[in-house]
Amino acid sequence: MKFGDRVTFKINAVDKKGRGVGTTATGRPMVVPFTVPGEEVEASLVARAQGKFKMRLESVMTPSPHRVQAKCRHAGKCGGCAWQQFDYEFQLGLKRGLVNDALAAAGITQRIEAVIPAVSTFYYRNRMDYGLGWKGELGLKEPGRWNTYVDLEECFLLSPESVELMRRFRAYMREAAIVPWDVKKHTGYGRYLVIREGKFTGQRMVMFVTAAGELPMPEKLVAALGDLATTVYHGVNSTVTDLSTADTLTLLSGAPLLEEKIDGKTFSVHPNAFFQTNSAMAEVLVRKVREFLGDRTPQVLLDLYCGVGLFGICLAGDAKRVVGVEIDPDAIEMARANAVRNGLTNTEYFAAKTESLVWENEEPDTVIIDPPRAGLHPDVVKTLLIRKPKRIIYVSCNYESFCREWRELSLEYKIERLEALDLFPHSPHIETVALLTLK
Ligand SMILES: C[S@@+](CC[C@H](N)C(=O)[O-])C[C@H]1O[C@@H](n2cnc3c(N)ncnc32)[C@H](O)[C@@H]1O
Repeated sequence: MKFGDRVTFKINAVDKKGRGVGTTATGRPMVVPFTVPGEEVEASLVARAQGKFKMRLESVMTPSPHRVQAKCRHAGKCGGCAWQQFDYEFQLGLKRGLVNDALAAAGITQRIEAVIPAVSTFYYRNRMDYGLGWKGELGLKEPGRWNTYVDLEECFLLSPESVELMRRFRAYMREAAIVPWDVKKHTGYGRYLVIREGKFTGQRMVMFVTAAGELPMPEKLVAALGDLATTVYHGVNSTVTDLSTADTLTLLSGAPLLEEKIDGKTFSVHPNAFFQTNSAMAEVLVRKVREFLGDRTPQVLLDLYCGVGLFGICLAGDAKRVVGVEIDPDAIEMARANAVRNGLTNTEYFAAKTESLVWENEEPDTVIIDPPRAGLHPDVVKTLLIRKPKRIIYVSCNYESFCREWRELSLEYKIERLEALDLFPHSPHIETVALLTLK
């Protein structure tokens, strides 16, 4: 098949990136974003990678009965939502299938009965990192493209105010003659507009991330964003890496930290720190972990990959000690302050890599692990198998990492409970929570 060639075929599976997959006569996979199993589609070849044909959807010949009118005009082009044009129950079924297939492939006998649905399917995120394209677009990337942005006129992921903020930000960009960053050439200045919201506090932090150099007309930026931003930062990412985190931060207006309330506790969040991006579902997640703990109060609770302290602080309750470990020193500073402001005296926090933690000082009976998508470092798995804490609650945003590590963890542990929660509607992402106890 040549680039641009059009073919008509049936979609018979969905991959972990949420793309429909069909096969050529010779058995080569053809992946098509914005399609689902059962559909017959016409698609054209745009790239070859890892033995797959990457296709662009040209038309849907036979639509799925689950296709609905998408709310957003950019659906079907923007990489922010893979599945907005499919009904929500169907999305949950697709996620359940993806997890259950991975569990089966890893030899795990447990299955997800039903995915716990999101509290809201629109405006559910508390953070968006809108990028600037080299032509001045402000928005999100097209699926599979690293330098093609969809210039968003609307977006239903964060809030109506965020769309108005983008409009005001564009006006500032024009007035201050901001030259957008070019990810290919590594030239230009404006890189990301990061908006974070406290869904339960009404606060909104805006950070304009640029390349190195003084921000033109900072007072105009603050004035343009007006009362829609309770905090405004200028952040500099002086590297060529396409990231929205800043290596230096200048507070232009408002309070330095964003506050959010989860499960009755208040958390301050540093502009660069990780925080669960769906506040309402973070509460459901915390309650699920509490349910898994049951009435067996932890003596020593080890909260690994603790971020700004979410799980440990919500679950510290009657525990004798809570020990949190996190690689990001800013987040650890926040975790310490968050524990104090929530009246806790039984917590300790350490800025360290989980894999370099010296367990000799700890005898945890309960360990919560919530690693990034890459999963656990092999040394962490080894240490868990040697130290054998009575129970582990494994919160995972990547079921494939969990399934991979299970091959080793299953030497000592059994899965007592396993559930999946939808923190990210319209995307193929899914959170799983497992209660592992010693065999
Ligand atoms: C999925 S987040 C979970 C954060 C926290 N549990 C929460 O719910 O807010 C993963 C966290 O692991 C941290 N992290 C990444 N690699 C790490 C490592 N090797 N050791 C410790 N923490 C790490 C990240 O900075 C991030 O805060």
